[in-house]
Amino acid sequence: MKKKNVVMIALFLTGLMCLLITINKIESKEDVSPKCRRIEEMLHNLTNFPRTQTPEPSSAPCYPNMSAYKLPEFSTLQDHIKDFLLYRHCKSFPMILDVHDKCGGAQNSADVFLLLVIKSSPENYDRREVLRKTWAEERLHKGVWIRRVFIIGTSRSGFEKHRLNRLLKLENNENKDILQWDFNDSFFNLTLKQILFLQWMDRRCPNARFLLDGDDDIFANTFNMIEYLQGQEDNDGSRHLFTGHLLQKVKPIRKLSSKYYVPVQIHESNRYPPYCGGGGFLLSGFTARTIYKMSHSIILLPIDDVYMGMCLEKAGLQPTFHFGVRTFGMNVPIKNADKLDPCYYREILVVHRFQPHMIFVMWNEIQNPDLQCSKTHYSLQTSTTSSVFM
Ligand SMILES: *[C@@H]1O[C@H](CO)[C@@H](O)[C@H](O)[C@H]1NC(C)=O
Ligand SMILES: *[C@@H]1O[C@H](CO)[C@@H](O)[C@H](O)[C@H]1NC(C)=O
Ligand SMILES: *[C@@H]1O[C@H](CO)[C@@H](O)[C@H](O)[C@H]1NC(C)=O
Ligand SMILES: *[C@@H]1O[C@H](CO)[C@@H](O)[C@H](O)[C@H]1NC(C)=O
Repeated sequence: MKKKNVVMIALFLTGLMCLLITINKIESKEDVSPKCRRIEEMLHNLTNFPRTQTPEPSSAPCYPNMSAYKLPEFSTLQDHIKDFLLYRHCKSFPMILDVHDKCGGAQNSADVFLLLVIKSSPENYDRREVLRKTWAEERLHKGVWIRRVFIIGTSRSGFEKHRLNRLLKLENNENKDILQWDFNDSFFNLTLKQILFLQWMDRRCPNARFLLDGDDDIFANTFNMIEYLQGQEDNDGSRHLFTGHLLQKVKPIRKLSSKYYVPVQIHESNRYPPYCGGGGFLLSGFTARTIYKMSHSIILLPIDDVYMGMCLEKAGLQPTFHFGVRTFGMNVPIKNADKLDPCYYREILVVHRFQPHMIFVMWNEIQNPDLQCSKTHYSLQTSTTSSVFM
């Protein structure tokens, strides 16, 4: 018999007992124990649950918010949006994989200069493997430590889910770089992923100086990043820094077919705060801790980068624009030029959408001492012509 059924039956029996006790107590005008009331309520919630769900035995499951059904036109919303509204309040999920000493313990975590926080999904094994041996390699560079974690939920269900979890466990045994939580790793759960990471950071790595927050398909020039961060005034992460591809005056997308579609039932206002595109942005430890604090009192929005912007706005902090962050593609000034010419990638910090094999080639090429680059490569800075990788 399935575990879920056993749980249901157990709950049902307990509920029945409570009911009998309740009837008895009502007759004898005594108070019903709060524990019984809770179990009855839980049973009620479980039997009214719209879809199957397997609660984790080891931790308290988060129940759907049934009031969401009362929202105007709830029934007409797409499934992933309904799901979001029902579970929006759930901010705590059990960890499946952790790396306790990633930062040498919380007390020593100031020794980590740059923590690479890479959003990945269980299936993306090839991307993680290539990042481990290229730009995300853990190393001491210019006297400071670069560390790496992949932040991941779960995909699929049943044995497929378990098989992917085994893959991640194997990877983690070998590389000690995976933080995994038991939640569905979907696009609309990306903000949840960010919050869970910030919770982890608060516990295990509170004093990391700087962080790169990005996707697993970016090319990041971590050498340049260290140079840029070391060049900051007070480069110990104690000041506000949040920089990347700055977006301003962006409005919620109300087009149903868009991946980014956000209906008024989720976000009523027609305004988003300024934010940096989520492909890759840099922030200081101070700013990460501030965002975490703000997140306690800001209701989740499914678009994770916009949510970061909301937290910054509430704290009175501004995100800034960095020319080296090309998360919306690389602008190459010359027609017919080789868009993968390594000379373009020597000067940048982050470029979005790279295939794993290209990351490997590019990482080696930008370090080639014989690489000859002409002046035209650097005119990139002012160009606005053809965009690639989109
Ligand atoms: C049942 O659901 C309601 C509303 O969704 C919630 O407030 C309550 O805490 C739930 N009860 C239990 C025992 O989880
Ligand atoms: C439940 O959903 C309703 C409607 O969206 C919302 O007003 C309420 O704040 C939610 N409750 C919790 C606990 O998130
Ligand atoms: C995870 O979320 C996606 C998108 O909402 C959905 O299609 C999928 O069925 C979910 N998977 C599980 C196991 O709930
Ligand atoms: C987020 O993950 C939770 C836990 O797996 C799941 O219940 C919920 O449906 C997911 N939300 C979305 C929008 O996929």
